[in-house]
Amino acid sequence: MIDLSVFIKDLKFNNPFLNASGVWCTTYDEIEDILKSEAGGVVFKTMTLEKRTGNPEPRLHVEKDFSINSMGLPNFGVDYYCQIVSKLKKYKKPLIASIAGFKENEFYLLAEKIKKSDFDALEVNLSCPNLEGKGIFAYDIKTSFKILKNIRKIFKKKLGAKLPPYFERETIKKISEKIIEVKLDFVSLINSYPLGSKIDIKDEKLVIKPNQGIGGLGGKIIKPISIAQVLLFNQYFKNEIDIIGVGGINDAEDVYEYILAGAKLISIGTSLLKGVKIFKKIKIELEKIIKEKKIKNLNEKIGLIKI
Ligand code: DHB
Repeated sequence: MIDLSVFIKDLKFNNPFLNASGVWCTTYDEIEDILKSEAGGVVFKTMTLEKRTGNPEPRLHVEKDFSINSMGLPNFGVDYYCQIVSKLKKYKKPLIASIAGFKENEFYLLAEKIKKSDFDALEVNLSCPNLEGKGIFAYDIKTSFKILKNIRKIFKKKLGAKLPPYFERETIKKISEKIIEVKLDFVSLINSYPLGSKIDIKDEKLVIKPNQGIGGLGGKIIKPISIAQVLLFNQYFKNEIDIIGVGGINDAEDVYEYILAGAKLISIGTSLLKGVKIFKKIKIELEKIIKEKKIKNLNEKIGLIKI
């Protein structure tokens, strides 16, 4: 038996595989599917104060190498998830909440509710790209860090943020320093690339309906973008903050690439759209790589890319 366990501080994951928030994690049954699978833990669908039905359909398009989504945060509302989380404790895997507010104050109300519940960790989603007429919080650095600083005061368990891609090294350096300053425990890098689109030339139609046919881009084609973000953040974090790598993970070679870049855990999004069997496949493949490379502990490889 190969030991794949990893820790975020004292929170133990039996292996580094998670779902990306949003995929297979909205209903009780979906969340339970993940917990019954080989995944090391589960991140819930981003929850809002009130229940939401989300954007009009079609709002998800999937191809071999990418997905485009503009779901618009469909979810059952924070109270529902705080209630069901207690029933899911029995799986003894970390249960991670994901929250998004439309206004600053909503983030605090959500964090208060999560604090009173059985969640083990909280991921603040500052990067949802699909809310009509609203920008991405994470690109407003001042407000984002005000929010994170205040949530850190409220929530004492493991706290992280989900970030979008940034486009300059200096921005990433500045954000990394602020993340260390507010004492987050982890960051998830990255959310979907915010502006993706696809036109079906037969019908001469955009493939998704909301937001002028433009939504968050995920899958294989965003992996190089995400790997570069992980490399840069990891360099500036100097081992102070754990990274969850997300974007285009379909097999254990992808997982190993993220680990070498600096990720401790990884989340699977687009490839999970086909079902939770991906976790078993990736686990078996990763154990094979570990044996072949004669690695004793996966942790010793985090960020160890040779330049
Ligand atoms: C949605 C999409 C995201 O990428 C995200 O981070 C949160 C929500 C959505 O459209 O539901």
